[in-house]
Amino acid sequence: MDLEFTAERAEALLREWTASESLVKHGLAVARCTEGYGVREAARLGLEGEPAARLAEMYRCAGLLHDFDYDRHPTPAEHPFVGVAYLRETGWPEEICHAILAHADYSGVVPETHMDKALFASDELAGFLTACALVKPTKAIADVEVAGVKKKMKDKAFARAVKREDMTRGAELLEIPVEEHIGNCLRAMQDHASELGL
Ligand SMILES: [Fe+2]
Repeated sequence: MDLEFTAERAEALLREWTASESLVKHGLAVARCTEGYGVREAARLGLEGEPAARLAEMYRCAGLLHDFDYDRHPTPAEHPFVGVAYLRETGWPEEICHAILAHADYSGVVPETHMDKALFASDELAGFLTACALVKPTKAIADVEVAGVKKKMKDKAFARAVKREDMTRGAELLEIPVEEHIGNCLRAMQDHASELGL
């Protein structure tokens, strides 16, 4: 039996397993981006009310939990496999487990569902948008604009660890222009700036 998944439970699990505050913030940021895609998908499916809210919450949980085992198990041999094994044992929905496996391109599981794709697409971009905010004098995500993000994507020296091809591939998977994907995630993070400390 699946447990009743809630974002509150997912965030508690993320915090329980994660000592690094920046990794917690990363989970929160990715979760707001995936949640936004869940809201869009619910609308596309014609869902309203409780079913729409549940779908968006599931997307948010996938974001919250995608790296929850990373602090304890950072190697590609363990992350995200140890975390997913724990989630399965404790009854988290298989859709969430599948999305978490698919966000790791070495896992052998490829993004198939819309939620898989939303998580894959939001992961690198959320990190990149955080980096874009932190170089602003205000360090505020509110001051980040899509055009500036696109410019920084071309600047190879900026936030070098973030793979540009994952950001563009993510937009391709979602079948939307990269500008739209950036805008979607930027707005999601701006709407929750204080939660993200940005
Ligand atoms: Fe991540």
